Amino acid sequence: MAVEPTSVTDVADGLREVDYLPGESTALVSYLAAKLGKPVLVEGPAGVGKTELAKALSRYLDRALVRLQCYEGLDEAKALYEWNYRKQLLRIQAEERGAGWESVQEDIFSEDFLLARPLMTAIASEEPVVLLIDEIDKTDQEFEAMLLELLSDFQISIPELGRIDATTQPVVVLTSNNSRELTEALKRRCLYLWLDYPEVEHELAIVRLHTPELSETVARKLVELVQQVRGLDLKKPPSIAESIDWARALLLLGADDIDADVFRETMSIIVKHRTDLDTVAERVGVKLSDVNAPL
Ligand SMILES: Nc1ncnc2c1ncn2[C@@H]1O[C@H](COP(=O)(O)OP(=O)(O)OP(=O)(O)O)[C@@H](O)[C@H]1O
Ligand SMILES: [Mg+2]
Repeated sequence: MAVEPTSVTDVADGLREVDYLPGESTALVSYLAAKLGKPVLVEGPAGVGKTELAKALSRYLDRALVRLQCYEGLDEAKALYEWNYRKQLLRIQAEERGAGWESVQEDIFSEDFLLARPLMTAIASEEPVVLLIDEIDKTDQEFEAMLLELLSDFQISIPELGRIDATTQPVVVLTSNNSRELTEALKRRCLYLWLDYPEVEHELAIVRLHTPELSETVARKLVELVQQVRGLDLKKPPSIAESIDWARALLLLGADDIDADVFRETMSIIVKHRTDLDTVAERVGVKLSDVNAPL
């Protein structure tokens, strides 16, 4: 049974129940998206829970997740629909000789010969779904333009077939790493959610959720260190994903503290650039080996 949220708190609680700890604006925007039927554009650095939000919404709302992974060169045939050429060909061959082209043509350009790709699947679904359009910034502007028709009217025009209207309205989540500026037209149609690196307490809660067996002291120290590392001017600051990986690794190694040695041995889990490693070893690692220095 699909869930109908009735308040922001409802959404916040629901997301927590399916193991996603939302920030305040996350719950609010998700609630509005579900109520107003508007797509949400989620932007932010890598690994802060953009994709996971869509997955969590699908679990919470008890709707199937339809995912479109974007990449450079993605086109309508892979995103929207494609004619099933092989089946069309077979149909033509199976046609008794003498049948008019007219009747065959009418037949092979019908829905039976259509291959639905994620966008079409999402709006044609009998049960409402959550549609995740992941990493939209990887596509080009033409693709974005095509999305606009879908996102504003929830319909698709197929030249040979006519208009296909949405059977049900999906909750749409678009994510972007901001690798390029998205068009104003797209942004205008979406609610906007900026996900940033979380505050200490929020991140601690997320880490503990994923590794409940790790002691609170170690988890807290880990999060404080990660936040310190983020404060340095790095090529690639560690994300929540890296904090979780680090916590899992420490748990596996049975570490009961993060001292200078443990830090040096495991810091490549959170820092993944040669030059960043040097900076972090110098600025954070050294501080850790000095027992008198505050963290
Ligand atoms: N609020 C949260 N509650 C629970 N887990 C979270 C939260 N935020 C992030 N995570 C966890 O952090 C990891 C990274 O999240 P996710 O893959 O969604 O990041 P992303 O923003 O989509 O990154 P990218 O831009 O690299 O695709 C996941 O394992 C996810 O479960
Ligand atoms: Mg992602």
